[in-house]
Amino acid sequence: MDEAKQEELFWKKIEAEEKIEPKDWMPEDYRKNLIRQISQHAHSEVIGMQPEGNWITRAPSLRAKKVLLAKIQDEAGHGLYLYSACETLGVSRDTLIEQLHQQKAKYSSIFNYPVLSWADIGAVGWLVDGAAIVNQVSLQRTSYGPYSRAMVRICKEESFHQRQGYEIITQMANGTAEQREMAQDALNRLWWPSLMMFGPTDKDSPNSAKAMKWKIKRESNDLLRQRFIDKTVPQAEILGLSIPDPDLELQADGSYKFGEINWQEFYDVVQGNGPCNKQRLDHHIKAHNEGAWVREAAIAYGMSKSKETIAA
Ligand code: 3HC
Repeated sequence: MDEAKQEELFWKKIEAEEKIEPKDWMPEDYRKNLIRQISQHAHSEVIGMQPEGNWITRAPSLRAKKVLLAKIQDEAGHGLYLYSACETLGVSRDTLIEQLHQQKAKYSSIFNYPVLSWADIGAVGWLVDGAAIVNQVSLQRTSYGPYSRAMVRICKEESFHQRQGYEIITQMANGTAEQREMAQDALNRLWWPSLMMFGPTDKDSPNSAKAMKWKIKRESNDLLRQRFIDKTVPQAEILGLSIPDPDLELQADGSYKFGEINWQEFYDVVQGNGPCNKQRLDHHIKAHNEGAWVREAAIAYGMSKSKETIAA
């Protein structure tokens, strides 16, 4: 079939809401956009394990430690699903990791902020995973099959993450005056960086128009950000915590008008100048290099097993 015919078939599938599968013909730009987005999503899942991992030994109870461990293990699994989905587009895991290490690929800015207290761990689950859920529920309808199926699986686990965080922040908000103060401090520091997770405004987003045409992105950055705000503000109010935005105002339609995001801060952090960018990347590079022997052993074992199977 000539390219024009294949392109026509591609668009027919997109319009008919059929999933594009790895073996299907696809425009090169569509493939490149998916590799960019899915790999950065995967990097975010894995880098996001660092701030939480620092609190495993500091968890205030055995139960809290177990729940946090389970959450962090989930995030590793999410990263693996997403790297595997990305590899179906013809790019190797090694290449993706190299792009991350060479700062040619991004990960979510939110993970470049420090997690300073146990209340922060609650705010991360409540706000960061809460924002991720809003984004990922929408992404379940993405046009690329492997990505969409990974999202369905990840969303099931993400809701547990958000509940885990909200339970912690509820305990703190209903605790001693000092714990309450910690909860409010965590909200003050993580609220705006959580809004930045949804990306630049629609008018400033260079990728959204194409991504929406290809149905990679199903709803816009601004719409998802607004949905997160409208869902989360009442949750803070129930706890008696105040959102650090003096311009926040409930509108007649039930949505919240909110203040201007500090886009200078957003681009500073995205460009590598956030509080923890260097620490996160150095840690990832160190762990990756120290884990080389595990990868080599696993490959050698796999090779020996396949030689045995061939010989048998
Ligand atoms: N942090 C870092 N970079 C960001 C960003 C953020 N918060 N928001 C946007 N960017 C980057 C984009 O990657 C793009 O740069 P690039 O062209 O070099 O890749 C640029 O800023 C412009 O942004 P656009 O809105 O035009 O880019 P997209 O169309 O890709 O939209 C997105 C950005 C909404 C983040 C989209 O990529 C997306 O939905 N990604 C999948 C979800 C994801 O990655 N979430 C990250 C968090 S994962 C997580 O939280 C795990 C949970 O378990 C804790």
